[in-house]
Amino acid sequence: MKQRLLELLGVEHPILEGGLAYIGDGRLAAAVSNAGGFGQVGSAGRSLEDFEKQIQIAIESTNKPFGVNLPIGEHSDPSERVELILKYKQHLRAVSISAGNPRPFIPVFQAAGLPVMVVISTAMHAQKAEQAGADILIAEGYEAGGHNGPSEVTTFALIPQVASCVSVPVIAAGGVADGRGLVAALALGAAGVQLGTRLVATVESPAHEDYKQKIVAARAEDTTMIERSVGRVTRVLKAPYVNGVLTFERTFPSSDELYPLVKGEKNRIGALEGDLEHGFAYSGQGCGLIHSIPTVADVISTMVEEARAALRHLPTL
Ligand SMILES: Cc1cc2nc3c(=O)[nH]c(=O)nc-3n(C[C@H](O)[C@H](O)[C@H](O)COP(=O)(O)O)c2cc1C
Repeated sequence: MKQRLLELLGVEHPILEGGLAYIGDGRLAAAVSNAGGFGQVGSAGRSLEDFEKQIQIAIESTNKPFGVNLPIGEHSDPSERVELILKYKQHLRAVSISAGNPRPFIPVFQAAGLPVMVVISTAMHAQKAEQAGADILIAEGYEAGGHNGPSEVTTFALIPQVASCVSVPVIAAGGVADGRGLVAALALGAAGVQLGTRLVATVESPAHEDYKQKIVAARAEDTTMIERSVGRVTRVLKAPYVNGVLTFERTFPSSDELYPLVKGEKNRIGALEGDLEHGFAYSGQGCGLIHSIPTVADVISTMVEEARAALRHLPTL
């Protein structure tokens, strides 16, 4: 499965950059691909024009394969994003789809020669996505930064259950931030891993310096969930603004009433301005494993070295 994944994506290491709203720009995607992983330009938090510009930056900054992430539900009309992705199909290696029903989109991208990765958070949705034709499944556990599946299944429980019921490669996402996580994911039946929070705190990431430092200082218990009162679960750093959101949620607001507090602009303020008094920033529980702000190349080479060391250690147990 790992070999199949590496061939499908044309990469050296089974390490992917997740779609990262506001953060996953062309420079970061190229840095991940240049380091032997699979970078993805994120569509969330960008205008259509900026999404195109970031794809162009990635094209200019790497000759290694990279892809794009399309969170369907984040866009009122995803069709113009689909057209844009198809326009650049000869430069892209794969598309990942999240936050919505992937079924109508899978054949469109595959017809253009682009393998499709679908983000799922339960074994049932994994089977559905495979039946719909997904080439790769990204199984994301509840430890992950950002929007999580409402069933709140953890990575450790999710990966083996998904791997047992599908025959396409499975990528583990959520809580992986070092080489031990990579080896554990492979042991659980994954073919590779997808990183989110670890890549936010890197030199090449456009996240505000204060946001990066908050991740470095945070431990797993310094994240919390917002939006649960309206049936969504979103993992963010604990901070003054988030306290206000949680207080408001205790009044059981409707989704429409809560929206002004949790809309993308509030995430932009937290992530790009580093202002956690007036906005929020995503982080997974793996923040407790992050102690520095290295380059992306360092993150990936260290992760590979740590994984090799962990594999050498296992037979001695
Ligand atoms: C800052 C940030 C933004 C994210 N934005 C998206 C997104 O736009 N689309 C998506 O599919 N997933 C998104 N995610 C989830 C990641 O792609 C990834 O699956 C997740 O972060 C993995 O868990 P980790 O944070 O523990 O590494 C985001 C995560 C973070 C931390």
